[in-house]
Amino acid sequence: MTFSDQEIEREAERLLRALLWVECQPGVRWDHEACRRVAPLTLEIGALKRERDAVILTHSYVDPEIVYGVGDFRGDSYFLSQQARDCRARTIVFAGVVFMAETAKILSPQATVIVPDGASGCSLADSIDDSMVRRLRALHPDAAVVCYINSSAAVKAESDVCVTSGNVYDIVAGLPERKIIFVPDRLMADNLRAELKRRGVTKEIIATDGTCIVHDRFDAATIADARQRFPGLKVVAHPECAADVAAAADFVGSTGAMMRYVKETAAPYYLMLTECGLVGRLQVETPEKRFVSGCRLCPYMKLNSLEKIRDALRSPRPDQIVTLDEGLRLRAARAIERMFALAPAS
Ligand code: 13P
Ligand code: SF4
Repeated sequence: MTFSDQEIEREAERLLRALLWVECQPGVRWDHEACRRVAPLTLEIGALKRERDAVILTHSYVDPEIVYGVGDFRGDSYFLSQQARDCRARTIVFAGVVFMAETAKILSPQATVIVPDGASGCSLADSIDDSMVRRLRALHPDAAVVCYINSSAAVKAESDVCVTSGNVYDIVAGLPERKIIFVPDRLMADNLRAELKRRGVTKEIIATDGTCIVHDRFDAATIADARQRFPGLKVVAHPECAADVAAAADFVGSTGAMMRYVKETAAPYYLMLTECGLVGRLQVETPEKRFVSGCRLCPYMKLNSLEKIRDALRSPRPDQIVTLDEGLRLRAARAIERMFALAPAS
């Protein structure tokens, strides 16, 4: 597709208004020239979206030129699942990772769901399979099986209820079963035990050994050091972090809740213990706030690119189209729908 100079110029200005405060490479901020370079791509993706009746869902961890350049909805796993469920478009492009695109397909089976890079896994989702869940259930027949949304469709299909980082504590606290098999995040399970204890709720949590390769690297010593160097610092962590990190933070929540906390809390500095894309979003939406560097990159989320989105919209390869066995999809949908019933808002 070709675009006139005037169209490219207008698009570059739109992109620059959003991306002005964000880096396009380490140490290099977006400028007019960089925006002009990507403008033909974002214009083409916009035209293809209209042609294909497509919406693009973007997780906050993907690059800001995707989130703000072509995304229709941006947010955390819970919010994007709601958008996928309510979506009436013929095509959903999920700029996130495979388990998120699978969740969209479970909730919107009529749509063609596209994942820009079929290799965009997740260390949590890839840590267990459905046979492990069945084995645990056989060992603990009186337990409820709770899966974190960062799990495959097959694992969801074996679970009683799905949870996200925004509702895990409330949903588990409210379940009638005393024994809970919680998969696949061992560190979130530790945080869950601590939170249930704080609430005075007695439950036995049986966990598996998965961790997020981004969040399991943060440590409490870094927090102590940063607090010394930046007086008044607020530390904001994700519940995939280790329990001592969560305990040392000022706020722990989903990426959506982390953003809300920063927007609503005045502080001279913030340390975001999560993926760097979230800091990019905050730089766009709260350019007056100052972030102490400390975030980490998720190699899976960073597999998304404008080029891959454009190519998938032009003509998706089979590995970019999510397909699920219908029986498995229906069983996985039950676990997610139960989550929506138990936690109707994020
Ligand atoms: P959120 O649902 O909080 O956005 O978390 C998704 C995720 O992958 C965190 O690593
Ligand atoms: Fe998975 Fe961690 Fe990447 Fe989130 S940040 S997609 S949990 S590996």
